[in-house]
Amino acid sequence: MSAAEATNILGIESSCDDTSAAVISNGKILANIVADQNVHMDFGGVVPELASRAHQKNIVPVVDKALRVAGINKHQLSAIGYTRGPGLLGSLLVGSSFAKSMAMALNIPLIEVNHMKAHALALFIDDGKRTTPPPTLPYLCLTVSGGHTQIVLVKSHREMEIIGETLDDAAGEALDKAAKILGLPYPGGPVIDRLAREGNASAFEFPEPKIPGLNYSFSGLKTSFLYFLRENLESNEHFIEQRLNDICASYEARIVSVLLGKLKRAAKEFSISEIAVAGGVSANRGLRAALLAAGEKFGWNVHIPPMQYCTDNAAMIAQAAWYHYEAAETAAMHLGPSPRMKF
Ligand code: KG4
Ligand code: ZN
Repeated sequence: MSAAEATNILGIESSCDDTSAAVISNGKILANIVADQNVHMDFGGVVPELASRAHQKNIVPVVDKALRVAGINKHQLSAIGYTRGPGLLGSLLVGSSFAKSMAMALNIPLIEVNHMKAHALALFIDDGKRTTPPPTLPYLCLTVSGGHTQIVLVKSHREMEIIGETLDDAAGEALDKAAKILGLPYPGGPVIDRLAREGNASAFEFPEPKIPGLNYSFSGLKTSFLYFLRENLESNEHFIEQRLNDICASYEARIVSVLLGKLKRAAKEFSISEIAVAGGVSANRGLRAALLAAGEKFGWNVHIPPMQYCTDNAAMIAQAAWYHYEAAETAAMHLGPSPRMKF
């Protein structure tokens, strides 16, 4: 089938600090371009105003490149999917305004996508390189990102339910904040991942939060981390530099054990053995290994997205838009971005 006859959808992601565009053609991802923003490094976190300015600078070249790589002309597009929320208002505004204008100019439908649902759909991305089958429905998806930690019951490609979530900080936030306290660069998650691989995960013991049911809490862990460092620095001012790898390994191990603890409980309660992970923190090697080990132990079919589809990307937005398009679910042009978009 030629590109002209195919259903081609452009996906646009701009919820936080990555500008990304992807093209899905008849269910297959042909291009996924991500421009990350280095402007936040000096500030130890994402600066919303700088993020939206960088999105404005990046969006045209990123979309242009995605179309070029996919070999698709903009007039061959059938629809445009974009992240409506949740995310930073200024960042979402850039992507949504761009998507709306382009859809209007081309006279094609607009499709709104929920960023968190899209993370859970990253498991279905087919870019021609996948070696394993996607999960069978229904499955449980542990979605762990910088702002969210959720256990999602994925009933269909469009129907999902949050069965457990964090009551305060997200797991990614707990990693990023700990990294900041240690004086490590932002984002801290990947740095802790790297250092933890060289450390002893049993060197220090961090307390396990006691939260009933399937919900999480990470703010107490973060506070205990701060006290732990303070106490040790009082007796040894070189504590951080001497034990950095062990500190990172032990802290990461606690976060991973907390994440898996509730996931195991959910799998048991819902009698589901199709288990997936998604979101930026699912790039963590400790978490990936622990999940595979739990899969062996409990007889789960474990699904883990390739690294480039764990962190923010437009391929997952295009994938989600694809399912909406198939169900003839399009968005009204007057809808504004939704920073706290409901699941
Ligand atoms: O999904 P994502 O890219 O953006 C949001 O939607 O928030 O997730 C970003 C989060 C950050 O907290 C970052 O530190 C974390 O994912 N992260 C990691 C790793 N790569 C990204 N955390 C641990 N290990 C990693 N390798
Ligand atoms: Zn995300």
